[in-house]
Amino acid sequence: MKTAIASALLGAVVLVAGCAGYSASGPSAEARLKPTQGNKTSGFVHFQQKGDRVTVRASIEGLTPGVHGFHIHEKGDCSAPDGTSAGGHFNPGGKHHGAPASADHHGGDFGNLTADANGRASLTLVVANGEITLDRDAANSIIGKGVIVHADPDDYKTQPTGNAGKRVACGVITRN
Ligand code: CU
Ligand code: ZN
Repeated sequence: MKTAIASALLGAVVLVAGCAGYSASGPSAEARLKPTQGNKTSGFVHFQQKGDRVTVRASIEGLTPGVHGFHIHEKGDCSAPDGTSAGGHFNPGGKHHGAPASADHHGGDFGNLTADANGRASLTLVVANGEITLDRDAANSIIGKGVIVHADPDDYKTQPTGNAGKRVACGVITRN
């Protein structure tokens, strides 16, 4: 009997430690990015929410080496061959375009990805203060929105796009 209780307690402790280690609590979402016409860029973006923070992890390949704008766009529609069906930047707060670290920026302004010589880029970004959410019913929900990777760098200045050029990959954010 004593052994059974000890074993059950040990199980509970391991379970708690596992949750803390992988921070898997809270909602998550993902987007699979496919190339727009004439491009080879593809990838995967994972979103994990904890309280008012959303951690974004992107893994992209098939890029030209260098810097590429990376945003959430207002429509989860990748049907146009050039990706323009995804609309403009997701901007629930009615802000100006800018760098993710600046005070004034769109909720969808994730900044830039930097691809290595093999055309691969990865990025981890924490969006804090409840700026975006995975809660479907909220006005600032990113569920069902688009994710776009651009041909050129986001200059963080040009309004309202960052002058990041053509859209080389597009995906739709779906809740897990
Ligand atoms: Cu964009
Ligand atoms: Zn923007």
